[in-house]
Amino acid sequence: MEKSTKRKLIVSTGGGDCPGLNAVLRAIVKRAGQEKNWEILGSVEAFNGVLNNPMEVINLGNENTAGIHVKGGTIIKTTNKGNPFDFPIEQPDGSVVNMDRSDELIQRLEDLDVEAVINIGGEGSQSISQQLYEKGVNIIGVPKTIDNDLSSTDLTFGFRTAVQIATDSFDRLVTTAESHHRVMIMEVMGRDAGWIALHTAIAGGAEVCLIPEIPYDVDKIVERLNLRYSKGKGFANIVIAEGARPKGGTTFSQESNEVGYGKARLGGVAYELSEQLKAAGCKAIIRETVLGHTQRGGTPIAFDRVLATLFGVKAFEMVLNKEYGRMVAWKSQDVVSVPLLDAIKDYNTVNPDSFTVKAAKGIGISFGD
Ligand code: F6P
Repeated sequence: MEKSTKRKLIVSTGGGDCPGLNAVLRAIVKRAGQEKNWEILGSVEAFNGVLNNPMEVINLGNENTAGIHVKGGTIIKTTNKGNPFDFPIEQPDGSVVNMDRSDELIQRLEDLDVEAVINIGGEGSQSISQQLYEKGVNIIGVPKTIDNDLSSTDLTFGFRTAVQIATDSFDRLVTTAESHHRVMIMEVMGRDAGWIALHTAIAGGAEVCLIPEIPYDVDKIVERLNLRYSKGKGFANIVIAEGARPKGGTTFSQESNEVGYGKARLGGVAYELSEQLKAAGCKAIIRETVLGHTQRGGTPIAFDRVLATLFGVKAFEMVLNKEYGRMVAWKSQDVVSVPLLDAIKDYNTVNPDSFTVKAAKGIGISFGD
């Protein structure tokens, strides 16, 4: 068989999925199609597809990407258990040994005759991008996460969709809270950053918003709730980010027994808070709702489709311009590129002194501080 004369690019989606991933893939394919001589490959389940035996690498073209910008998830699948620098390998006795498979990955990319890599993912994935770049891989990062916690970009796609889903759920909880005179606690995602909780609390009109950046005092929350019930039968709605914690306390998490997961699993802090409120004297009936992965699934809202599309086109154009070691970013209403190193330096967390937090407080939302 004759060797393809086309230039090859491989795309990977890593970490947790996020509405808008498919829109990025489609945009890369469409923009590359205008150049005529490109072949776009997709590594199935982040870089695992390249590392698997046999390899799981698919061709991306109009036939499998047309119209997918409206679809949630990622057609090339994803995983948060495939760091090539710390790759978990199950041994015959059931134990797990982590190995550095980055050289193998690089060799296989060369064997595939791949000229460049576009890695779509959050902080963990972009750290992998930077490490691969330092080993000579022509790589470009595209930021994604519903948590919006990546630095060097004003926004990540998926975040606004998550806020919309959370706000729709919040609105529903308000009417049932009111009917039963209850306190409703709604838990949203947000491991290190409280962006989803903060925006949902403002959009929905919460009484209390608890985020990782502002440790809460349970007594202060009870005070706020009592105020709601002071004129008789009241009701109240609380939004809490999964990573929120009480002053002097720790994040509510569980060790994960999933091979290669590599971090604690969050989720369930709403139930913890419920117990803390009762212990602190809250007399109202409390119900808890954990939104979990509903925030990540389903179709992206229009804004995220647009942002993801702009990111895809930009990423491909960065390949054309050989702007490697950089990440696509949204800055001051424009799409630019930033060094990967800057993007992974710190998490983008909510500044407690920001105007958004002040405005939330200005309309009476308590952060329990
Ligand atoms: O990083 C995004 C995120 O949604 C976090 O908020 C959450 O803790 C995590 O992913 C959960 O991901 P998974 O269940 O896929 O491991």
